[in-house]
Amino acid sequence: MKRSFLLLYVLLLVQAFDGAYCNVGGSFHCEYTNLANLHRPHSVSITEFGAVGDGVTLNTKAFQNALFYLNSFSDKGGAKLFVPAGQWLTGSFDLISHLTLWLDKGATILGSTSSENWPVVDPLPSYGRGRELPGRRHRSLIYGQNLTDVVITGENGTIDGQGSIWWDWFRNGELNYTRPHLVELMNSTGLIISNLTFLNSPFWNIHPVYCRDVVVKNLTILAPLDSPNTDGVDPDSSSNVCIEDCYIVTGDDLVSIKSGWDEYGISYARPSSKIKINRLTGQTSSSSGVSIGSEMSGGVSEVYINDLHLFNSSTGIRIKTSPGRGGYVRNVHISNLKLDNVRKAIRFQGKYGEHPDENFDPKALPSIEKITFENVYGEGIEVAGLLEGIEGDEFKNICFLNVTLTVKKKIPWKCSNIRGYSQWVSPKITCDSFKESIFPDHSSKCFGLSENNLEKSSGLSRSPWLFSCEENIQSGLRIEL
Ligand SMILES: *[C@@H]1O[C@H](CO)[C@@H](O)[C@H](O)[C@H]1NC(C)=O
Ligand SMILES: *[C@@H]1O[C@H](CO)[C@@H](O)[C@H](O)[C@H]1NC(C)=O
Ligand SMILES: *[C@@H]1O[C@H](CO)[C@@H](O)[C@H](O)[C@H]1NC(C)=O
Ligand SMILES: *[C@@H]1O[C@H](CO)[C@@H](O)[C@H](O)[C@H]1NC(C)=O
Ligand SMILES: *[C@@H]1O[C@H](CO)[C@@H](O)[C@H](O)[C@H]1NC(C)=O
Ligand SMILES: *[C@@H]1O[C@H](CO)[C@@H](O)[C@H](O)[C@H]1NC(C)=O
Ligand SMILES: *[C@@H]1O[C@H](CO)[C@@H](O)[C@H](O)[C@H]1NC(C)=O
Ligand SMILES: *[C@@H]1O[C@H](CO)[C@@H](O)[C@H](O)[C@H]1NC(C)=O
Repeated sequence: MKRSFLLLYVLLLVQAFDGAYCNVGGSFHCEYTNLANLHRPHSVSITEFGAVGDGVTLNTKAFQNALFYLNSFSDKGGAKLFVPAGQWLTGSFDLISHLTLWLDKGATILGSTSSENWPVVDPLPSYGRGRELPGRRHRSLIYGQNLTDVVITGENGTIDGQGSIWWDWFRNGELNYTRPHLVELMNSTGLIISNLTFLNSPFWNIHPVYCRDVVVKNLTILAPLDSPNTDGVDPDSSSNVCIEDCYIVTGDDLVSIKSGWDEYGISYARPSSKIKINRLTGQTSSSSGVSIGSEMSGGVSEVYINDLHLFNSSTGIRIKTSPGRGGYVRNVHISNLKLDNVRKAIRFQGKYGEHPDENFDPKALPSIEKITFENVYGEGIEVAGLLEGIEGDEFKNICFLNVTLTVKKKIPWKCSNIRGYSQWVSPKITCDSFKESIFPDHSSKCFGLSENNLEKSSGLSRSPWLFSCEENIQSGLRIEL
């Protein structure tokens, strides 16, 4: 009695979300209303605080003093910290609210190569420890906590982590704490990071965690293909995040969507939701274009990935999880994926492993459902799909629509403990659990099918479900800052 009531409630909720955030033919783009704030009434140059842009002088104090001074303008429309052309060596510093950090043409903020200039801070509560070592972790080069209205931008200025020394410490087992990011913003809202180049991060490049209303736009993010864990952007337990027009070539995932790790992530319970990725291009030789997980214990939902072009890479899209994670990944729509010379086009990995400690609950099984791949094209692919769920925890309502891949391996698709629907897929998915087609009976089980394909499908005209989608599209896909 109680259970069936709950089930009905959940079904109604899922329907409501389908309507509110569905995709219409991949036409979304990042919107923000605080672009005006790129122009602040007060502006100072870092040189006014004694900074020297010779690449040798350590400018941490100058950045700290400038930001302390500018904090007094936060209730007067905010302020701009101008960084002119030059090589500005610094250790980690803290941002403030209502700030624009402007890196002018030819300006480079250089991360110090001494680990003591990157102080250690507490681990994130949703991870319970540092990601690569137990205990505390080095603070990011540019850091912010509890902030609102922060813009990091300029005229293609550069933030260079000089990460190679950190990669060596990692490879030689010489780290005392988990490596730092280039930019980490925690528990903050209204963030824009745009028009810049990021180079050689010690670890992940950009990490918004417990944040809301984030735009990452028009960035170039580069690190050597063999550099360890140099993810591009990692939205983590954050909502309303839009990543658009980025070119990312690094040693790990271009974008990885996360929400905490095993028992720590489950109890912190902060999901990532409403994540949009549009027009992303790049390469990674060991990882994927976009991954979800493996840390996803707070849940991940309402993800739209459109126009992802990946070349000479390992994996197109990868969903990673493990028994012990708990959480969920649901309502994900991936469209217009273009792959050139990519080993695995699509991968679901149910037994990724990696646990923070021995206290995880192996019975905490993740729920993976409602993930749609639509309009996928690839050449020079080795394996179309390695689709592996978890025994006793089947991944379901996974849909493949209009997928065309030129595949080298004899067995293009492998499936276990995963179920869904497929239509217009080449090479054909021979797995029994995908043999049913999407149209006409199963389109409502596939998340966010585009209008275009719905119309083209035989015998199916515009459904009431689609109308509810259109009504809500304006509020649903807006990012308001
Ligand atoms: C997040 O920031 C807000 C205001 O900026 C603050 O009131 C709140 O306590 C912060 N929460 C955490 C968990 O840091
Ligand atoms: C952010 O807010 C939390 C919770 O109120 C507080 O513990 C922490 O010190 C604040 N951090 C900063 C940098 O203000
Ligand atoms: C992207 O950023 C570059 C500078 O890095 C700038 O010249 C260009 O106009 C920007 N493009 C858009 C569409 O904003
Ligand atoms: C910005 O700078 C990077 C690195 O210097 C360069 O690769 C990129 O082409 C530049 N982008 C623009 C739009 O000038
Ligand atoms: C680790 O700690 C030792 C002892 O304090 C120190 O000599 C070493 O430089 C530290 N290593 C790093 C990478 O910070
Ligand atoms: C990026 O730079 C271009 C060219 O200067 C400018 O028009 C645009 O507003 C900037 N966008 C953002 C989001 O900073
Ligand atoms: C991808 O690899 C091919 C073959 O190795 C090479 O010819 C091509 O230039 C590479 N493409 C890019 C954009 O690096
Ligand atoms: C199928 O996908 C390709 C891109 O791979 C696209 O050009 C084509 O329009 C799609 N077909 C339909 C019916 O949407």
